Amino acid sequence: MNTVLVTGGAGYIGSHTIIELINANFKVISVDNYINSNATTYDRIKEITGADVPFYDTDLRDLEAARKIFQENTDIVGVIHFAALKSVPDSVDNPDFCFDNNNNSLINIAKCCVEFNVPNLIFSSSCSVYGNVNPEDLPVTEDTPLKKAESPYGYTKQNGEVILEFMCNAYPLHAICLRYFNPVGAHISGKIGELPAKRVNNLVPVITQAAAGVIPHFTVFGDDYATRDGSCIRDYIHVSDIADAHVKALQKKISGEYTTAYDIINLGSGDGVSVFEAINAFEEASGVKAPHEIGSKRAGDVESIYSNPVKAEQVLGWKPKYNIHDMMASAWKWQLRMKELGIAKHKLED
Ligand code: NAD
Ligand code: WQD
Repeated sequence: MNTVLVTGGAGYIGSHTIIELINANFKVISVDNYINSNATTYDRIKEITGADVPFYDTDLRDLEAARKIFQENTDIVGVIHFAALKSVPDSVDNPDFCFDNNNNSLINIAKCCVEFNVPNLIFSSSCSVYGNVNPEDLPVTEDTPLKKAESPYGYTKQNGEVILEFMCNAYPLHAICLRYFNPVGAHISGKIGELPAKRVNNLVPVITQAAAGVIPHFTVFGDDYATRDGSCIRDYIHVSDIADAHVKALQKKISGEYTTAYDIINLGSGDGVSVFEAINAFEEASGVKAPHEIGSKRAGDVESIYSNPVKAEQVLGWKPKYNIHDMMASAWKWQLRMKELGIAKHKLED
């Protein structure tokens, strides 16, 4: 059985990817320092898959601790590196911590892959690398020139890609940078979803929280953009589709079919959805109103960004299975589950 090391495996996308890896018969080892998650995630993974996931409680900024994982597991065929700090506002407040965490963890993981002859590394990149895209550059392809990143977080992803490109040139290492657009939703079982250590401010969680009465309402950040309904446009993509793309990428690498040493692939649906369309989709999918008010624009928001997803289909044979209604229905199911478990209120008080 092929063993995959998933870093940040207790987090949102990592946990959903572990489920898909187990479903595809991979053996999985997880590593996390729980700075934005906790180890109860593994219980939820077991509830869904029946599998126990061996895990390490390790800060990947510590090279010796990272090396120990590879020394103790000589059968690793690939690493999926999710571990990172992802909060854009936190990265603005503490840029040094974000650069240290995101870039040094990546360098350590890439060094271990080289030292322990693990040839396949998948890196979580982000559409934030494109910066404030010009409308004429939409939809963005992997070749769209990168602009200045809008945050230290965005720079850690631009840097991460550059680090890997040079390391793949210098060493026998293969890396794929998957640029996720806006991952949302939860596993269709409703038994697992995003459970961060801190309150989140992304659109879909605030929609579901407002609908559940956890918060009284949320704010739509601007209705006077030059878009079809005045609100910003994004490319939302179901978290389990993102997970599936990682499985497909690893399978292609392991089978020897996918030989490019360094590659970049967009993971999006290709469809731009406005904030108002997202709210409507939620209300249709759940049958519940999401109370909101119109506010001013949020600093640093890009007006419109959505992907050209053709390369993912050509190279990985991957296409998203879930539409915006499925994304909203699953996010709602998870919100209700959190309420049942009594964790929604607690999270807000953090
Ligand atoms: P997440 O915060 O839920 O998961 C990241 C996990 O990494 C957390 O469990 C955290 O505890 C762990 N971690 C952070 N630093 C670590 C360190 N030094 N050592 C060990 N573990 C560490 O975030 P997510 O949404 O699952 O994102 C996963 C990856 O995808 C991240 O790299 C993120 O930047 C990237 N990404 C996320 C989005 C998104 O909107 N969620 C979009 C594009 C890219
Ligand atoms: C989506 C849309 C908001 C909250 C972020 C990161 C990006 C990437 C994905 C990691 C925007 C609007 C939101 C609210 C609103 N992550 N909105 N009211 O900003 O597109 O991207 O996650 O790599 O780097 O920046 O996601 O969910 O915050 O916002 O109107 O209360 O919803 O203005 O148009 P964003 P988001």
